[in-house]
Amino acid sequence: MRLNSHPQDVLVSRLYEANQDSIRDHFQRLDIRSRRARFCGAVSDGGILKYAQNIFRNDSIVCGASVDGQVRGIVELRGVFHSWPSTAEAAFSVELDWQNIGIGDALFERMFAMAQNRGVRTIQMMCLKGNSRMRHLATKHHALLRNDQDAVEAVLHPYWPTPASMAEEIVGEARSYAHRPFE
Ligand SMILES: CC(C)(COP(=O)(O)OP(=O)(O)OC[C@H]1O[C@@H](n2cnc3c(N)ncnc32)[C@H](O)[C@@H]1OP(=O)(O)O)[C@@H](O)C(=O)NCCC(=O)NCCS
Repeated sequence: MRLNSHPQDVLVSRLYEANQDSIRDHFQRLDIRSRRARFCGAVSDGGILKYAQNIFRNDSIVCGASVDGQVRGIVELRGVFHSWPSTAEAAFSVELDWQNIGIGDALFERMFAMAQNRGVRTIQMMCLKGNSRMRHLATKHHALLRNDQDAVEAVLHPYWPTPASMAEEIVGEARSYAHRPFE
């Protein structure tokens, strides 16, 4: 993990319905390019609002990376409880000023552990063809890439839960809670 800008300030933790306003505000702060990359197309403010309001209706687990108590990055793992063994879709967003300092990588590791701990056997990620940073992140974590016409699908197959995957989630969450009183 390469959190080279104030690593002690970046906390990765699970977000819940009580955090819906922070999730909405994060999506609304995304610049046009990042928004388009996250949703694989243009989305209006109204569309973002609706998406944030419904984010927990899709069997989604959401994890946020916060700096000084403000959510700057999110990973959504969608469809976790739909089927068994399950296939889930992961989607990432990091605000422009916070990109390329390791937040996406940190979210990726937590997302992978959370999927593994819940018996997800296939993780799919879609990104636009020109999104070389996301493609790099996916291949760095051993995803297989499949080219579509305009998009790239990245696929990962987690193993069953391991002590390491449990520790990644439990220790990571505990670290976040331990930091909260000092924020
Ligand atoms: C894609 C995204 C999630 C990555 O998160 P991030 O916090 O910026 O990424 P990180 O800093 O953790 O990692 C970036 C990695 O890509 C590399 N990278 C940076 N720019 C790159 C580029 N143009 N091409 C290839 N690799 C690049 C970095 O060197 C780093 O690699 P390393 O960890 O091996 O050193 C983030 O940039 C983002 O939200 N973009 C807009 C929305 C989006 O594209 N979402 C993906 C749809 S699922």
